[in-house]
Amino acid sequence: MIKSDFYQQLSEQVAAIIADEKDIIANMANISALLFDSLEQVNWAGFYRVIDGELVLGPFQGKVACIRIPLGKGVCGTAVSEKSTQCIADVHEFSGHIACDATTNSEIVIPLNYQGRIIAVLDIDSIVYNRFSKEDQKGLEYIVQLFSQHIDRHGIEY
Ligand code: SME
Repeated sequence: MIKSDFYQQLSEQVAAIIADEKDIIANMANISALLFDSLEQVNWAGFYRVIDGELVLGPFQGKVACIRIPLGKGVCGTAVSEKSTQCIADVHEFSGHIACDATTNSEIVIPLNYQGRIIAVLDIDSIVYNRFSKEDQKGLEYIVQLFSQHIDRHGIEY
């Protein structure tokens, strides 16, 4: 399947699984499960939430991970401080990368916005170097944008 079709289908699946649910944790859990299940060569997929000025581990699929990440640290904390997606072809070259799983070689982290601020990041790790192409980035950013629009409409319920 060509990548644009793949991400079209995946984003429709995401829209469907969050459509009737307002609870952000439940939606993060199902989005993580769907992405982990659907993306090849991925060893971790999940969310970190911004709570009291640091990132705290949220729903995910994969191995046990570090729980708290200071803003500005690691790939995840950098995505928040830089307010932008971090697409890292080789995590060993990223100064300050936090290695939760030694088999990870590439990583993408995308900020999730709510009312003009970043409330969480989506983090996906791969065992393959350079796993996330520009097309993957575009497709995954679109999925995060769908989630952000859903939260804007329904608010945040914990
Ligand atoms: N590698 C991340 C830490 C989180 S784990 O990958 C699940 C980072 O450098 O921020």
